[in-house]
Amino acid sequence: MATPPESATNPELFDAVVNLCKRRGFVFPSAEIYGGIRSTYDYGPLGALMLRNVREAWWRAMIQERDDVVPIDAAILTNPKVWEASGHLATFTDPLVDCRNCKERWRADQIEDVCPKCGSTDLTEARPFNLMFKTFVGPLEGDSSVAYLRPETAQGMFVNFFNVLTATRRKPPFGIAQIGRAFRNEITPGNFVFRTREFEMMEMEFFVPPADSPRWHEYWCEERLGWYMRYGIAGEKLRLRAHDKEELSHYSAGTTDVEFLFPWGWGELEGIANRTDFDLRAHQEHSGTSLEYFDQTTDERYIPHVVEPAAGATRAMMAFLLAAYDEDEIGGERRVVLRLHPRIAPYQVAVLPLSRKDTLAPVARDVLHRLQRYLMCEYDDTQSIGRRYRRQDEIGTPYCVTIDFESLEDQQVTVRERDSTEQTRLPIDDLVHHLLGRLDI
Ligand code: GAP
Repeated sequence: MATPPESATNPELFDAVVNLCKRRGFVFPSAEIYGGIRSTYDYGPLGALMLRNVREAWWRAMIQERDDVVPIDAAILTNPKVWEASGHLATFTDPLVDCRNCKERWRADQIEDVCPKCGSTDLTEARPFNLMFKTFVGPLEGDSSVAYLRPETAQGMFVNFFNVLTATRRKPPFGIAQIGRAFRNEITPGNFVFRTREFEMMEMEFFVPPADSPRWHEYWCEERLGWYMRYGIAGEKLRLRAHDKEELSHYSAGTTDVEFLFPWGWGELEGIANRTDFDLRAHQEHSGTSLEYFDQTTDERYIPHVVEPAAGATRAMMAFLLAAYDEDEIGGERRVVLRLHPRIAPYQVAVLPLSRKDTLAPVARDVLHRLQRYLMCEYDDTQSIGRRYRRQDEIGTPYCVTIDFESLEDQQVTVRERDSTEQTRLPIDDLVHHLLGRLDI
């Protein structure tokens, strides 16, 4: 696949998208009225809708459209022995250095022995800093009540492997998938929602016979790359990159990242790891519960190996926004348009009565109610129709339905398509069918 050069950075695009997110209500700094809290964000009305669509697109591809993956929804707080067994307590660390001059803290692997803030080279030796957030369960704060906020959702699937296997009568190859919040006390969060301390993950653990894991690893790399393209990111903005040996996580025998060309260069969207039997074996040893699978057809007993596609929902949302952002000219007027896939866009349809006059409202409301049963719709009867189209283009709404005075006579409406701005006149009765047929372009 042709890949643009590393130097293809675009700070203007980053600023434009961050500004749009705040102005139109995708993403707000968290607790802004109190001055915020560093690199923590709240998802506004449009962001909450879009994030939900990202999750649903993942759910559709990973669960709904397959017959070999089942979902779970595990707890965020769990027995701390899980993190001991998984290796997170001992090794889920980043190398931390302090600047003795300005007291700022940095990740040693992200700076060149110089403090990026004050330029001092008077830095402490790097020491491991565990990224897990610690808390206490119950009213007593002590060693026996320590718990951790999960830094990945994966462990919830490993510790439930046997429950799911028996409850659903599955046999490898099969997967367990889940979407949920994860927490990491990142030393240097940043780049908007790219790296935050609280974020959302979409992970799937695919359990396979040991000999089959390389084949499944390749399979999932292609599948996952294809998912980002299916939902609107151009192939030249994506690439697969295999990790070097030194880069591998403590549990991985091989990881390939799906990377996106962010405005600052290539960055990880998702890691697809061959976790071997590391996790199931560790949980078997620490818990004393057998996590072997017995294959009655071959008379074999084995601990399955795991291939894990692990994506960030919040990071994927940012990539979809960056990839969709465009500026063009319509009828001599500049417009900002988010060319989002219809299933990812916050609203699929905007219902726009041409005038606020009472005569149009009943028909427009009827159209809205018909569409709302199937699609996320916005109703807007303010300002000129041109301004309203621009507002919808800017938030990526793929279709606008305009109700005019002729609609009262002929029961037809105009459907305007965001990207081409082409307009089609359609009977109201055909609208739902017409729009639903255009969701999976
Ligand atoms: N269970 C495997 C695992 O946790 P990871 O590469 O550490 O793998 C998976 O995380 C994905 O989660 C990343 O590719 C990224 O999209 C997202 N992610 C990780 N840390 C993040 C952070 N601090 N903020 C936002 N997203 C993050």
